Amino acid sequence: PPLSEILNLHDFESIARQVMSEKAWAYYSSAADDEITMRENHAAYHRIWFRPRILRNVTKVDWSTKILGHKTSMPVYITATALGKLGHPDGELNLTRAAAKHGVIQMIPTLASCSFDEIIDGAQPGQVQFLQLYVNKDREITKKIVQHAEERGIKGLFITVDAPQLGRREKDMKMKFEDEDPSVVSETGSKGVDRSQGAARAISSFIDPGLCWDDLSWFKSITKMPLILKGVQCWEDALEAYDQGLAGVVLSNHGGRQIDFSRSGVEVLAEVTKHLGEERGLKFPNEKFQLFVDGGVRRATDVLKAIALGATAVGVGRPFLYAFSSYGVDGVDKALQILHDEFEMNLRLLGAPTLKDVVPSMVDASSLSNH
Ligand code: FNR
Repeated sequence: PPLSEILNLHDFESIARQVMSEKAWAYYSSAADDEITMRENHAAYHRIWFRPRILRNVTKVDWSTKILGHKTSMPVYITATALGKLGHPDGELNLTRAAAKHGVIQMIPTLASCSFDEIIDGAQPGQVQFLQLYVNKDREITKKIVQHAEERGIKGLFITVDAPQLGRREKDMKMKFEDEDPSVVSETGSKGVDRSQGAARAISSFIDPGLCWDDLSWFKSITKMPLILKGVQCWEDALEAYDQGLAGVVLSNHGGRQIDFSRSGVEVLAEVTKHLGEERGLKFPNEKFQLFVDGGVRRATDVLKAIALGATAVGVGRPFLYAFSSYGVDGVDKALQILHDEFEMNLRLLGAPTLKDVVPSMVDASSLSNH
């Protein structure tokens, strides 16, 4: 169907399922085990209700904000997803180009199928990009990646901490990952990879399961980029990250692709703001320690719920993959435009002229277990 018939982010998924190769669909859509967490990611937003305010002047509404001090046209960033070329020959560049047009931030994955420099070179002057990092057993390789990223102007380092081993994504495991399949181009040092059990296994064998809290001081010694942990799943670890002086955490379960029955990011958000408030007197959103959430976000209303509960911004993954797999860069452009339109309307209907007006009392989150 023509792009004009796409009305929301869900629509991209049903179209992608029809047009994508079986292998790409298996890799993008799969999640761990019985995929309970993946479904819960979206379902958790259904337990949060709005308490809109009336008779506020909403002639003009503004949903722009800052992430780690950098301007963004909306409180959404494009999160890191590996292997863009499985879905479209231009791979991650589809995201870079649409992000430029809409003034949103792209997080570049370690396991991109375009080279890192290609993605940086594909950006417009001044366009802000972050890097997602999988930490290599060979720390020299990691150091090279991190320092090169800093030299090339990357503004934030998101270290993925929820994947000491990749989760069991059975749809993907049924596929053979062949030599001719688009793969990862960055140096990973993976040797003797097993290609018989899907894309995820084939590309991930270099990741260091020995990574631990003590390693964070080493990261601080090799880069000045703000450090953020991606994949925090309880308040105790968020508190540790704060105490270690990090710039923030992403409350995420990797799109349900790691441990099944982990909770949705927005559920964790409610407990993190509560406990860090109690333990350290922090208020959120907080400029010095920023909370991000990803997983299952498909509507601006989902984003606004997370903002009301204290998030600085929210990451979106699969919808953009499905968008470029079906329509290339125009699909991602359309997906971002849909979000803009949804923000405008929903801020009006909430009675919130800016994101600062989207406060905790605008939601009823009493059905979240930790609120
Ligand atoms: C991911 N995600 C991910 N995360 C990460 O830190 N490094 C990576 O290489 C990848 N790769 C990846 C591939 C694919 C196909 C998916 C779907 C996801 C996780 C991603 O950053 C994010 O946490 C989730 O995708 C968010 O959930 P939604 O928006 O996809 O529901």
